[in-house]
Amino acid sequence: MHQSAVASWCVVLGLLSPLTAFADGEGVAGVTDPAQARIDYMLHCQGCHGPDGAGTTDGVVPRLNGWLSRFLHIPGGREFLIQVPGSANAAISPERLAEVINWMLVSFGPVHLPRDFVAYSAEEISGLRAKPLTDVKVVREKLMDALEAANLDAPGSVMGTLDQARVVRCCQTRIVG
Ligand code: HEC
Repeated sequence: MHQSAVASWCVVLGLLSPLTAFADGEGVAGVTDPAQARIDYMLHCQGCHGPDGAGTTDGVVPRLNGWLSRFLHIPGGREFLIQVPGSANAAISPERLAEVINWMLVSFGPVHLPRDFVAYSAEEISGLRAKPLTDVKVVREKLMDALEAANLDAPGSVMGTLDQARVVRCCQTRIVG
């Protein structure tokens, strides 16, 4: 099935109605062309992150699938997703990177998307790319500590109110494929 058709299909069925991020009726917020975003992911990111965002088994490239959107819940996480070298240095325009990241967040992490998620814009991407990280490893370690402390999977946490099974059924298994 065509990717954009899939996104519309999800919205038509209203499966994502609890998530404001998808309530625009045009498919996934911040992704005007899901098929193009997926192709850009394949061309620029998949070589390291894998077709399904699983990363590498040796731990060098982190898993994005089921993980990526968690960063949006901690201070500095939103910025990090763009400042990390794989994003910041990709040979792709700010407009297209915004689409790829928004697509990745929905495809790989619908379960953990904040309810009030605001899609990345090209302007935000340009601003963050202009401020590269000096030590990725140190910044990432601090964020991982913050994620652990946030304990997002605990009952009653920020994620506790989403109908996870429905969200996963709609987007995780269909847009990525
Ligand atoms: C050359 C391999 C490579 C490519 C290509 C690559 N990445 Fe990555 N990516 C990594 C590695 C390694 C990390 C872990 C942080 C670090 O050491 O840079 C990472 C981390 C990330 C993270 C943060 C997740 C985390 O847990 O640290 C995001 C977001 C990300 N990459 C997005 C992208 C996007 C978007 C693209 C394509 C435009 C891309 N990457 C292309 C290797 C790559």
